[in-house]
Amino acid sequence: MATLWQVGGGPGLDPAVDRFLSSIAVDSRLVLEDIVCSQAHAIMLGEQGILPAQDAAALVDELSRIRREIEEGTLTVDQQAEDVHSFLEAELTRRLGDIGKSIHAGRSRNDQVAAAFRLHVRNSCVSTRRKVLESLRACLTLAEAHTGTLMPGYTHLQRAQPVTLAHHVLAWCVALERDAGRLADAARRADESPLGSGALAGSGLPIDRERTASLIGFAKPSANTMDAVADRDWVIEYASAAATLMMHLSRACEDIVLWSSSEYGFVRIGPKASTGSSIMPQKRNPDPAELIRGKAGRVFGGLQALLVMEKGLPYAYNRDLQEDKELFFDIETAVNGALETFSVLVTSLEPDVGRMRAALRGGFPEATDVAELLVKHGIPFRTSYQAAKLLVQRCVEANKSLSEIVEEDLAVHEAFAATGLSAAEVAAYLDLEACVQRRMQVGGPAPLRTREQIERLSAWIAEELAQASL
Ligand code: ARG
Repeated sequence: MATLWQVGGGPGLDPAVDRFLSSIAVDSRLVLEDIVCSQAHAIMLGEQGILPAQDAAALVDELSRIRREIEEGTLTVDQQAEDVHSFLEAELTRRLGDIGKSIHAGRSRNDQVAAAFRLHVRNSCVSTRRKVLESLRACLTLAEAHTGTLMPGYTHLQRAQPVTLAHHVLAWCVALERDAGRLADAARRADESPLGSGALAGSGLPIDRERTASLIGFAKPSANTMDAVADRDWVIEYASAAATLMMHLSRACEDIVLWSSSEYGFVRIGPKASTGSSIMPQKRNPDPAELIRGKAGRVFGGLQALLVMEKGLPYAYNRDLQEDKELFFDIETAVNGALETFSVLVTSLEPDVGRMRAALRGGFPEATDVAELLVKHGIPFRTSYQAAKLLVQRCVEANKSLSEIVEEDLAVHEAFAATGLSAAEVAAYLDLEACVQRRMQVGGPAPLRTREQIERLSAWIAEELAQASL
């Protein structure tokens, strides 16, 4: 393999070691970012008089030509090179001779790789965030159509209290909203240029780090040249935001898997996002939801690997850091694929409103409201709770619902008589629609409140998606 360096004489690096060290198969994905950073570097070298102006211009032009040829497919990154940085310098040298050899003045591969990769990760924060917003929008469309669709809310997978499908889906949405916030934070902190940090101690040449930062489009140069080549916390931040996001997608997918089972029957997954069985013709399987759940583990593993990769490294650069890119790309691919699939999955859902409503029959999800009705009439909560419990027990024994109670049923506890309420009044209070309607507090399931949330999130997403970047 062609390298930029030479150690000792003789045959040099053992071929097995050579193969082991090579990162070209992974970092050729950064070729365009490396070209952007190299052009900024060449422009700055010319402006600072470190290179003759015409040499700097020749480097910039040749790098543009290389980019065009790569985009058109007439040039491919040479897989024999040690890494993408070596490839670019070799290519410039092949085309421009000594001028090509002059590009590396005032930089090292340590700041070069950090700059190209950091640019990529910063942009990935923005593009993954857009995908989060698109998934959120798909969820909001579903919620919007179902602010009045009653269903049981669960705790411990037991029917607990009536909510609406909109309220449940909005729970996913606000989690995704925070995920978008984490990616925006990660993008802001990644927005610093390591270029000009050299191997670790900058350069004795009169380079201008502010100039290269602004030419590349970074907000500013990084504050310390050792930190800039040694730390990958900006990769870890993306990975960490991605891990939390995947945890959320995985949970929402678990809901969808349960809901689409015959046991629940709350939704059908449309043909765009469900799969058949090779043996059982009747099946409609939730494979996309399951694979999103499965990919979460891969992303958590990647985050863990990145943290462990860095924790024991002495300052500054060590070759261990080369692992960062493969781990990152694996995470990025998994997360972006999961988000795209999740959007389609949610859009394809066909809720069965009748089945959801039917699941509220039995299980007494309105029992808390019995207690709260008594509280409203001045009975202490614990006493109200006991009275409600006795009333529910009586209904269970009589095999009837709370809507069917008669006066004698209220005799189970003296609290009912103390309120002066009739059985018909109690039953009316327990109407399921009414139970949801009166849950009017901020964040609650009342349609008025869920519509507010939908409007707030929709307006925000429309504004965000209209902007080109953050
Ligand atoms: N391929 C290397 C990486 O990804 C580039 C930096 C190499 N630097 C060095 N000092 N060997 O980290």
